[in-house]
Amino acid sequence: MRKIEISTSVTVYTDVSELSSEDKMLMDKAVEARKKAYAPYSKFKVGAALLLENNQIVLGNNQENAAYPSGMCAERVAIWKAGSEFPGVKILKLVISASSSITKVERPVGPCGACRQSLSEYEIKQKQPFEVLFMGELGEIVKTASLLSLLPFSFDSSYL
Ligand code: THU
Repeated sequence: MRKIEISTSVTVYTDVSELSSEDKMLMDKAVEARKKAYAPYSKFKVGAALLLENNQIVLGNNQENAAYPSGMCAERVAIWKAGSEFPGVKILKLVISASSSITKVERPVGPCGACRQSLSEYEIKQKQPFEVLFMGELGEIVKTASLLSLLPFSFDSSYL
């Protein structure tokens, strides 16, 4: 038997004023995308902004459906948009913003497990990590150096 320790180091910023100008600009874009989300059922809106290495910014937001599981998260809308519009162009950063019209979201909202798995495919494919930054509507921002650092023991093509 052996035990291993899994650790991840993240940076936590107190608020947007501590972000670099590029990160702040991307967070503004994620907020812009979030405001256009279609979330009539959960009232929980999420926006995602991807910065690509060709300097394109690709936005996504959650799109809900009356048949609940048929909706889609902001992060996967964004990553699939990037993958379909700019195949082969590397992703440098993913920035996420979330808010609710029911409660004040003052804690950073990380990507859900299904999104982490979907996103991991792209980080592995491009053989280069991308940074992930996430926040709620207000307050702290968490920044990680790579997507895979948020998904230990992820499933990938090497198992197939
Ligand atoms: N949602 C996202 O867009 N991203 C996440 O990572 C978590 C959840 C959306 C899905 C659904 O429309 C709403 O937030 C509530 O779960």
